[in-house]
Amino acid sequence: MNNINSKLLDKFVRVSERAAFGASKYRGKNNKIAADQAAVDEMRSELNKIDMKGRVVIGEGEMDEAPMLFIGEELGNKNGDELDIAVDPLEGTNFTAKNLPGAISVLAITKKNGLLSAPDTYMEKIAVGKNLPKNIIDLDNSVEKNIKLLAESKNMKIENLTACILKRPRHEKIIKSLTDLNVRIKFISDGDVTGAISVVDPNSSVDIYLGTGGGPEGVLAAAALDCLGGQMQTRLVLNDEEEINRAKKLGITQLNKKYNIGDMIKGDVIFCATGVTDGDMLKGITYKGDSFEATTFVLHKSQKISKKITNIVKK
Ligand code: FBP
Repeated sequence: MNNINSKLLDKFVRVSERAAFGASKYRGKNNKIAADQAAVDEMRSELNKIDMKGRVVIGEGEMDEAPMLFIGEELGNKNGDELDIAVDPLEGTNFTAKNLPGAISVLAITKKNGLLSAPDTYMEKIAVGKNLPKNIIDLDNSVEKNIKLLAESKNMKIENLTACILKRPRHEKIIKSLTDLNVRIKFISDGDVTGAISVVDPNSSVDIYLGTGGGPEGVLAAAALDCLGGQMQTRLVLNDEEEINRAKKLGITQLNKKYNIGDMIKGDVIFCATGVTDGDMLKGITYKGDSFEATTFVLHKSQKISKKITNIVKK
């Protein structure tokens, strides 16, 4: 069977819910490390209950950097299929520490060898929504060219397009180009998994996501966009010998390769993201006596599942 057993879907939802619950205890406590650790602990413990031979392919570090979920870490009770797992137990550590909107717990799962094995370095990213001509955007195009092509195919005026980008000094050039083109800019201070996914969110006005962010976050966003019909292209940013060696150790030989979604995600994929703090995409965790309420965005490509579910879970 080439698809992921759909009976596992609820289990992965539970993983994401519990990780979000762990992090939620540290909302507004100005301690992003403790928040991340709590999410990691819950995520690991829940993943280890699942009938699978799981392996972290996208994680929080490349060696045995326990107590984080590191690349190569084996998870599950070994009674099931071999699965690749991408995790970001807490995406938005700052948001959580400051009790700001937009923190989520997120993971994606494929069958073995279904996920790009990427190091925890930066990655250039560009993403657009669905029903657009194939390969319409390209990292090697100028910002002007990508925006013009997008405006043409959406039959929209450039001035009505919205581009989402992380507010960082490294994006100065891109921001200048967008400003000169009179494109609307939606700045985000963190959280580019949600930023990239917003291109397919009917409730967001974002038409294009672009800029450089974390590599793991890029692969996680690609998993969601794969299920939702968006387009994305990425390229690793390897700044020095050390980062180059880390990429090589993971089997990457073409260091400048541009990855389309099909290069990052192969075959069936499940994606789950649960809100930690309230945000545009998801409501955060709320406490209800000895239980908590969690809202999760759930995608399963082969089953064409795309839904938001709210569960009450025992603490
Ligand atoms: P953390 O939750 O791990 O802190 O990541 C938040 C984030 O904003 C990601 O969404 C993004 O990919 C990355 O950090 C950007 O990195 P930097 O803050 O170094 O620009």
